[in-house]
Amino acid sequence: MEIVRTIEWMKQLSRAARAREHVLGFVPTMGAIHEGHLSLVREAKSRCSPVVVSIFVNPTQFGPSEDLAKYPRPFEADCAALEELGADYLFAPPAEEMYPKGFSTAICVEGIGERLEGRSRPSHFSGVATVVLKLFEIVQPNVAVFGRKDAQQQALVRRMARDLDLDAQIVTCPIVREPDGLALSSRNVYLKGDDRRAATVLYRSLVALREQIDHGERDIARLLATMRSVVASEPSVTLDYAEIVDADNFEKVMNLRGSCFAVLAAKAGRTRLIDNALIEEIGDRLNVSL
Ligand code: PAJ
Repeated sequence: MEIVRTIEWMKQLSRAARAREHVLGFVPTMGAIHEGHLSLVREAKSRCSPVVVSIFVNPTQFGPSEDLAKYPRPFEADCAALEELGADYLFAPPAEEMYPKGFSTAICVEGIGERLEGRSRPSHFSGVATVVLKLFEIVQPNVAVFGRKDAQQQALVRRMARDLDLDAQIVTCPIVREPDGLALSSRNVYLKGDDRRAATVLYRSLVALREQIDHGERDIARLLATMRSVVASEPSVTLDYAEIVDADNFEKVMNLRGSCFAVLAAKAGRTRLIDNALIEEIGDRLNVSL
C-alpha cells in the first residue's frame, strides 16, 4: 500500500488508473480504523481495483466545542489494518495541503443538510460536503463507499452527487455493531465505565421499534414514544432527537411508505452517539434493518 501525502501525486495516480480503464474505488475516513471502516474497504475491493482509502481528520466538520484536538489518530495501526486488507493507496494529506492559507469556499446542501444532525451541529455538514467534494475531485473515484452508520451523511453525499453531476457511484454499506449492539465508531474509545454499558440504549430502542413494527404497529407517534421511553430508561443518557424520516431527504414522515430511517442521537456522559434503523416497505410488509 502506497501512502500518498500530496494532492498532485494522488491526482496523477488516479489519472493513470483511469487512463488504464481501471475501476477506482474510494473509501473516505477520518482514521481510527475499525471493523466498520474495514467492511467498506472490503466492499470497495469486491467491486473495484485499485482501492484508495483516505484518512483525513477534517477540521471544518468539527464545531468549536467538539473533539478535533483529541480525536484519536492511531496512524501506524490504521496503516497496518488497511495494508492487511489490501488497500492499494492511502491518501493522508496534512491539513495545510487540503486547506491552504486563504481557503474560503464551502459547499452548502440545503434542506437535508439543515435537519437533525445539521441542526444539532451547525456547519458540520457544510464541512463534510466540502471535504467530500474536494476528495472526489482529487481521487476521481468511479465508486465511493459510505456507511449507513452515518445515514444522513450518505444521503447528503448522494444529494450532492446528483445535484453537481458527480461521476462517482455512491454505495452504502450496513452498520457493523459490537456483540451487544453498539454501533462501531471511532468515538467509542471515549466511553468509559458505565457510559459504555448505557450507550447500548440507542440500539435497544431500535430493537424495541423493530418489535413493535413486527407486531403490526404503524402509528409514527406511538413508535417514536417507544424509542424515546427506552432511551429515557437510562438516566445517564440524554436524548438529542429520535425521529422517523424519509430516507432521501430526511424530512419527518407521517407514515411508513417507501424507505425511511428511524434515527436517533444522544449523549452517553459527554460522548455524542448516533444510530439508526432502515425501514423498507417490501410488498405488503415492512423490513427493519438495524
Ligand atoms: P468516519 O467517521 O471515519 O467514517 C468513515 C466511513 O465509515 C463513513 O462512511 C461511516 O459511515 C463509516 N462507518 C463508521 N462507522 C461504521 C459502522 N459501525 N459500520 C459501517 N460503517 C461505518 O464519516 C466520516 O469519517 C467523515 O465525515 C468523512 C466522510 C470521511 C468526511 O470527512
